[in-house]
Amino acid sequence: MKTFELSGIGVDSLVFAERPMPPVGPRDLLLRIRAASLNYRDLAIARGEYGKVSLPLVLGSDAVGEVVKAGAEATRFAVGERVIPTDTPDWIAGPPDERMLRRRLGGTLPGVLSELLVVSEEAAVPAPAHLTDEEAATLGGAGVTAWQALYTADRLRPGETVVVVQGTGGVSLFALQLARLGGAEVIVTSRSADKLARAAALGATRGIDTRATPDWDQEVLSLTRGRGADVVIDVVGGASLARSIAAARVGGVVVVLGFLDGTSSNVDLPAAIRRSVTLRSYSGRSRESYEGLARALSSSDIRPVVDRVFDFDAAREAFAYVASGAQFGKVVIRI
Ligand SMILES: NC(=O)c1ccc[n+]([C@@H]2O[C@H](COP(=O)([O-])OP(=O)(O)OC[C@H]3O[C@@H](n4cnc5c(N)ncnc54)[C@H](OP(=O)(O)O)[C@@H]3O)[C@@H](O)[C@H]2O)c1
Repeated sequence: MKTFELSGIGVDSLVFAERPMPPVGPRDLLLRIRAASLNYRDLAIARGEYGKVSLPLVLGSDAVGEVVKAGAEATRFAVGERVIPTDTPDWIAGPPDERMLRRRLGGTLPGVLSELLVVSEEAAVPAPAHLTDEEAATLGGAGVTAWQALYTADRLRPGETVVVVQGTGGVSLFALQLARLGGAEVIVTSRSADKLARAAALGATRGIDTRATPDWDQEVLSLTRGRGADVVIDVVGGASLARSIAAARVGGVVVVLGFLDGTSSNVDLPAAIRRSVTLRSYSGRSRESYEGLARALSSSDIRPVVDRVFDFDAAREAFAYVASGAQFGKVVIRI
């Protein structure tokens, strides 16, 4: 089977390879991957920013595939069904422990940028029927992360909630759409006026251009008449984390997800404590959260925002596009 792998550290080491098909155990599914989507994480792993990985590594954690073979004891899915593999296969439900987070597709396990993939039948969910392959391939790292951030530990309360979403990438646009679904007002920050206009068309209540208004936290306070946001989804990290804390209301939540602008931060601790802010972070996604997001999408008119679709042979170009930061939503590879 053809795979797209990292053979060394650095994006120049992204290569195609031929690998033998993995064996299918009695409770496994063999999937023919139809589409995969990229996450910033895939790029960070390729750049060596994500800790040590064992090489060569097939990259990618999000995909949709068709069951082409089911192990003799597998009962959850039948041949021909369209399923989404869960990227943290040992985390089924509830809060995780260290063991559940250890194995990850495209990290400690081979990833989805491959013609075929073997997964345990427990580590897959049905793909929502109304989504195209390209849309269904985007749910994990972006959609389920946003779902967990908004609807698991800290539940949105309709109407009175203000959510700040940073940037217009995969996680952020799902967070925007899902927060609107829950009745929240959403303030989006972006480095592009054009992308803010597109975010408004998706339902953003207000937009802040961080190039024109670098002290966007003060703007959030002013837009909320001094109160601050109930939830801030921080994907930018670096120096922005201090601003996220300043933009949160007293008792608000800052969800620390990413580090697009730096892997460390100087936080003004007295300011955080004065605001009684909860800093919450997530790593990995439970099957229960995949199922929760799939239900929410199936019962609403939300469709994942797919920016560009690349052919498998153009996988390197797809990585370069993610690296450019030009995307609005998800970058997908058709396999
Ligand atoms: N903890 C988790 O479970 C988890 C899960 C998924 C993602 N993440 C992390 O969340 C972050 C976003 O991931 P993603 O896959 O959504 O990324 P993405 O799709 O590549 O989107 C990135 C977006 O963020 C903005 N951006 C990029 N570089 C920036 C910078 N230096 N400063 C400010 N804004 C910047 C851009 O929007 P504008 O052009 O509009 O500004 C860009 O479109 C990454 O750090 C990723 O590792 C964490």
